Amino acid sequence: MSCKSHIVKLDGLAYHLNDGDNLLSALLAQSVSLAHGCRAGVCGACRLYSLGDNAPLLSCQTTLKNSLSLSRRFPVRGDNFDVLEKSQLDDHNLVLTLLGPSDDSFGDRLTVLLPEGNAEAEQECMAINRPGEKIQILLQKNLLSFEKWTYFTRLKPKNLLSISVDRSQRKGRMLVDLSISDMPVLLIASYENHAFERYWRDVLQQLPAELADFVALSSKQLGCSQNLAKLTEVLQQACQKFGAAKLQIVYHGSGIPATDWEPLLREHRIRLSQLHFVR
Ligand code: FES
Repeated sequence: MSCKSHIVKLDGLAYHLNDGDNLLSALLAQSVSLAHGCRAGVCGACRLYSLGDNAPLLSCQTTLKNSLSLSRRFPVRGDNFDVLEKSQLDDHNLVLTLLGPSDDSFGDRLTVLLPEGNAEAEQECMAINRPGEKIQILLQKNLLSFEKWTYFTRLKPKNLLSISVDRSQRKGRMLVDLSISDMPVLLIASYENHAFERYWRDVLQQLPAELADFVALSSKQLGCSQNLAKLTEVLQQACQKFGAAKLQIVYHGSGIPATDWEPLLREHRIRLSQLHFVR
């Protein structure tokens, strides 16, 4: 008995699957690497997107009736931005100033779509320009592959970059999003994020004047979990200035894990819920 088959294209690779197959099971049976979880249409982990109309579908809930062309990621469309200026802050931080259809991107999360030929298709970064200024993106060497870092460092003025702007995730609006815009905030940036200091100071200026007396730190000592003495001193000063009860701590870094934060906060009578991690 012959069985009708369909071609399912997933991110450019084609698979021959049988009519009536469950899409997730049939792809997994062909050793396709595909995220999945509950297999009951609840968790959304197996979501794929139809190319063309970008419609999402849950592969665990899809019975194959026709050929499909799919992608694991939501297809992003970029706008063209010109590179206006490239400035290498130091060996590890590069700022690109861009000219494009919008410069209203303070704190927006941006995705740079790399040209074909690069093994990795995109790079997520953040706009660090002040509101109304030309878009500036900060690229950190320690967060990029060698290939991507090389690509960005070789860019020249007038080169084009294709960029997709995601306005749903704004660090610039973060204090509001965290519902802490009327509370005293201590911002701590670990050493590898020192290049964000001007940006964070701009963000904190959005606080009411009486709460604008904040402490923003960017110290080498804070990047090392073995050396927490400086952090203890900073917390002590902030508690004296603002009181421990309302103080909100925003930590932009990864050098100090939550397990190191816990005893420190307890010592100063600060609840863990008053600490906010920013990646
Ligand atoms: S695996 Fe959870 S929705 Fe499909």
